[in-house]
Amino acid sequence: MSVTSWKKIAVGAALGAILIAGGVLAFARFFAPPPPPPVTSLPAPAADAAYRDASRPIEDRVEDLLSRMTLDEKIGQMTLVEKISLKDKASDVTAYGFGAVLSGAGGNPDDNTPKGWAQMVAGFQDAARKTRLGIPLLYGADANHGFGNVPGATLFPHAIGLGTADDPALAERVARATAEESAALGVRWNFSPMLELPRDMRWGRVYESFSDDPARAGALGAAYVRGLQQVPGGQAGRIGVLATAKHYVGLGNSTWGTSRDSNYRIDQGAIPDDETALRDAYLPPYRAAIEAGAMSVMAGIGTWGKTPISASTHLLTDVLKGDLGFRGFVVSDWYGVYDISWNKYDAAVAAVNAGVDMVMLPFDYPSFASDLRRAVMDGDVPRSRVDDAVRRILRAKFAMGLFDAPEQTQDLSVIGSQAHRSLAREAVRRSLVLLKNRGGILPLAPDTRRIRVAGSAADDVGRQAGGWTVAWQGVDGNWIPGATSILSGIRAAAGEQADVEYDVNGNFPKGEPADVGIAVVGEKPYAEGVGDDASPQLDDSDLAAIANLRKTSRKVVVVLVSGRPLIVTNELPKWDAAMEAWLPGSEGAGVADDLFGASPFTGTLPLPWPRSIKQLPMRPDGLAQDGSAPLFPRGFGLH
Ligand code: BGC
Repeated sequence: MSVTSWKKIAVGAALGAILIAGGVLAFARFFAPPPPPPVTSLPAPAADAAYRDASRPIEDRVEDLLSRMTLDEKIGQMTLVEKISLKDKASDVTAYGFGAVLSGAGGNPDDNTPKGWAQMVAGFQDAARKTRLGIPLLYGADANHGFGNVPGATLFPHAIGLGTADDPALAERVARATAEESAALGVRWNFSPMLELPRDMRWGRVYESFSDDPARAGALGAAYVRGLQQVPGGQAGRIGVLATAKHYVGLGNSTWGTSRDSNYRIDQGAIPDDETALRDAYLPPYRAAIEAGAMSVMAGIGTWGKTPISASTHLLTDVLKGDLGFRGFVVSDWYGVYDISWNKYDAAVAAVNAGVDMVMLPFDYPSFASDLRRAVMDGDVPRSRVDDAVRRILRAKFAMGLFDAPEQTQDLSVIGSQAHRSLAREAVRRSLVLLKNRGGILPLAPDTRRIRVAGSAADDVGRQAGGWTVAWQGVDGNWIPGATSILSGIRAAAGEQADVEYDVNGNFPKGEPADVGIAVVGEKPYAEGVGDDASPQLDDSDLAAIANLRKTSRKVVVVLVSGRPLIVTNELPKWDAAMEAWLPGSEGAGVADDLFGASPFTGTLPLPWPRSIKQLPMRPDGLAQDGSAPLFPRGFGLH
């Protein structure tokens, strides 16, 4: 055998050995028990440490605290853990010193009552205060239409309804009330508002957005941020409930069929990396929210061109922190960081270096802590980057007064209070769009005596409330305490003189027809990718209910309860009147207010209503890709 051949064998054997060793290491890493929590023997700082002094400027307090922190304590601050993984392990909050804990959708306490929530959050907060430095944690949740996680809370219209009302002052009041219910539970961090501009109505998150118009979304988003963050009594520079502008950036323009998740279709998909669209359309709402004081921004799960957003230094550091001057912190979305690479170490390194400051893990915190520690020790993540991230997180915490707030008993009576329900009803009245009104039958004449009501959403507050209500995908059914269905609202508004009959399928006895039939129809609750729908339209049972109603009523009014415009082009001519109610929430009576003329129709469409699926995605100018007009343009609404 030649020398060259021996060399080849030797090199091959060496490579083989390296590969095997690498494989063994990877295997060992994968199956190794999680590393133990970091420990420090450093003493606690004195009670009069500068960072504890509320009279000092925030930046001084941040620097003082930062200078006292170990690397592990810094990594702890950069960690956001879902509370389910802490079941029976609340002591890990102390051991790791987490910066934040969240309840993901449906992450409710076993006792899912206001008291149960308040106790759960207080328990985590106590564990955080027991850390050496006593850094309080942020407790986060999605309260995107009121604090919908707990039964009995006021459920406001989802964002698309506020987009329809197009009144920043109203959005601010709604956010303020949401903040009050949330803060009463100790939840001082809200993962809203959503500022994406939905261009494709098949997306399951259209209703979380205000509008596809950057100006409308920006004005409402900024108002929402102000409402959440304002401190009662208005202490300047202080934050009540921390707002999150999300999901940065461009997700509303994702391409159908590109989702990274095989169960989804467009959510978590690919976004064309169009810099002009970024500057002209996607960024302005974020700029407005940041100018209004938003101190956290959530990086979306999606791919900008070929780069996952959480790994994009361009988007997170250059544009957001650089061009927009954002001084708060960037939090990644649910498992978003681990979408960057199958290798969790590489994923964490890429995300932190790109500009993610806090990682929503949401579960595997021991490996994240040890990965980030190793990355810093090995020089893969600069210490200065870690310091920058922690500085941003602490800045928000100090601005929220978390270090200074005395323990207080919370007033839980604010949850679902009458004042908030009245505000929600007002918001519902303003969030309806009158699409068609043949012969001016709406509002219904005061002497309308015989009314028939049908449809899947007439007597179903779960459908009115939509997704993100108690459970991630919402709850179908009529059981949310304190909520009023649209049917109950109609009965009350029609008055005792009227005869209101109801049958979900619209099966009424033949004979004398009713003066009017009201069909309340729409979509089942859904959220996120699960709600991606190739063909959003009314289902057969609702279409049959409308047809049945038509047989036994002189006129038919259709009320649509949906999270997005449904394709109704062929149905609309058969209806006398139609209105879009979106997802109004707990106060169904607000829908009846406009139907019966107690309040006027004032809402306007916050996005164009497509004629057919073929028109999607809509262009920024509100026309279809081929230049054809939608069924109803953005801004449409009869008054
Ligand atoms: C969603 C976010 C949400 C987060 C926490 C994610 O799945 O994309 O909008 O804030 O979960 O619940």
